[in-house]
Amino acid sequence: MQLLTNKIAIITGGGSGIGAATCLAFAQAGAKVVVAGRTLSKVQTIADQIQTGGGQALAVEVDVSQGADVQRMIASTLTHFGGLDLLFNNAAISPAGRITEISEAEWDECMAIDLRSVFLGAKYAIPELQKRGGGLILNTAGTLGIRPCRNKAAYAAAKAGVINLTRAIALDYAPDKVRCNVICPGFVETPLTAGFAGEAREEFLAGYQPLPGLIQAEEVAALAVYLASDAARMITGQSFVIDGGQQAGINQ
Ligand SMILES: NC(=O)c1ccc[n+]([C@@H]2O[C@H](COP(=O)([O-])OP(=O)(O)OC[C@H]3O[C@@H](n4cnc5c(N)ncnc54)[C@H](O)[C@@H]3O)[C@@H](O)[C@H]2O)c1
Repeated sequence: MQLLTNKIAIITGGGSGIGAATCLAFAQAGAKVVVAGRTLSKVQTIADQIQTGGGQALAVEVDVSQGADVQRMIASTLTHFGGLDLLFNNAAISPAGRITEISEAEWDECMAIDLRSVFLGAKYAIPELQKRGGGLILNTAGTLGIRPCRNKAAYAAAKAGVINLTRAIALDYAPDKVRCNVICPGFVETPLTAGFAGEAREEFLAGYQPLPGLIQAEEVAALAVYLASDAARMITGQSFVIDGGQQAGINQ
């Protein structure tokens, strides 16, 4: 018996980075995986990879900021796999800018993709989890949702919202054995951070992250597998930081 045998999971942002690594790790742990994301070709590639390895996967195109899309994603899951046990709200964008520099439209877009998506995902997934006698809503926030850095105002605000929404969901649905937790990564090597490389990145990390080395998407995925498993059945409403020690103190 593997950690996630027969669990049916949706992972958003599944076409790249942490989402793709988690899709592969969930499938490896025995889950049936819905790889969901904005670009069908990217999520299809990951779903194909799972199926080639002998796992079960379905690719679904979704804009996580749109309620009708999210409902369609969940309906496709029910049709294809017959239920839902886990939703990983992981898709996001990470715009930069101080509030005097970003437009109202940029603020709204960040709130819609990074925070409204969690509301929508939970809103439409929870009734399905309740039908199965419980389940998990797992979210990705980030250490910037705990304490911001400069020049990331909208992102930091949205991710702070994700952390507190996680707690609210955990409290409201605990009686139904629906758990809700949030992972807060630090600086992870993914397409999201690919633009920041070379010497500038090394200099930044030297003053930012106590442990040497770059956090990998697979390491975040391993934490997600544990939180999705029955071994974590009494863990809810919690934030899990994976940041190489960055939040442990003030910058060295
Ligand atoms: N990489 C890091 O350093 C880091 C740090 C902290 C938090 N995070 C968080 O981790 C999560 C995954 O990011 P990543 O680093 O793997 O980057 P990524 O860019 O590879 O993943 C984000 C995914 O979300 C998808 N997406 C964006 N908008 C969407 C929409 N409207 N609908 C559906 N899908 C959409 C993208 O297509 C992409 O596949 C995000 O929530 C991000 O904020 C990343």
